[in-house]
Amino acid sequence: MNYILSPSILSADFKHLEKDILEVKEAGAQYLHVDVMDGKFVPSISFGMPVIKSIRSASDIVFDVHLMIEEPIRYIKEFAESGADIITIHLEACEDVKATIDKIHSFGLKAGLSIKPKTEVEALIPYLDQVDMILMMSVEPGFGGQKYIEESTGRIEKVRAMLKERNLSTDLEVDGGINVDNVDNVLKAGVNVVVAGSAIFGGNIKEKTRKFMEKLEAYNE
Ligand code: DX5
Ligand code: ZN
Repeated sequence: MNYILSPSILSADFKHLEKDILEVKEAGAQYLHVDVMDGKFVPSISFGMPVIKSIRSASDIVFDVHLMIEEPIRYIKEFAESGADIITIHLEACEDVKATIDKIHSFGLKAGLSIKPKTEVEALIPYLDQVDMILMMSVEPGFGGQKYIEESTGRIEKVRAMLKERNLSTDLEVDGGINVDNVDNVLKAGVNVVVAGSAIFGGNIKEKTRKFMEKLEAYNE
């Protein structure tokens, strides 16, 4: 299993996004987590295709695009063309989850499926063998800087067990409230892709990224 850090640019300083992206990449992050919010599926609005297109030329880092938008099927083509490598959609936001996953795959991209903290993990079962990644929200989606919801650890364990039962080594990502002090808990629970926003951006980005990388590398051995 490959252990990956995916810093969320939602917490970056948008006036020097390129600099921030280059710093996390240089310090070892393999993915860049890109949070798109529509003001409907979640209360906030972040940014969309033009920003992704613009930062695409800054780095070849993997763009891990997390769509917190209603009926994302309407925009898969646009996000694919903007430079996304992985597109994650919310189960709660789709009328036809399978059609949305198929659409992401039709552009040759990896498809992720996410659930909010209150959605039963069993809802994922029909899609486990169809997706490349499962994203477990460990805060209510919408804002960076929230506190990790403790019940998420047990939910992550359950999903990793559900995958194992089916002989699937699907990536399992966690998003929300992760810092260097609690990351071990989610890694032990079965996560292999870690999103971190406020714990990385602001202050010494490289140093903070390296601290996370040290934690992850211990699991790669
Ligand atoms: C929240 C977003 C997260 C957010 C994480 O809705 O999906 O990716 O940026 O931020 P932190 O790590 O600060 O909780
Ligand atoms: Zn996210």
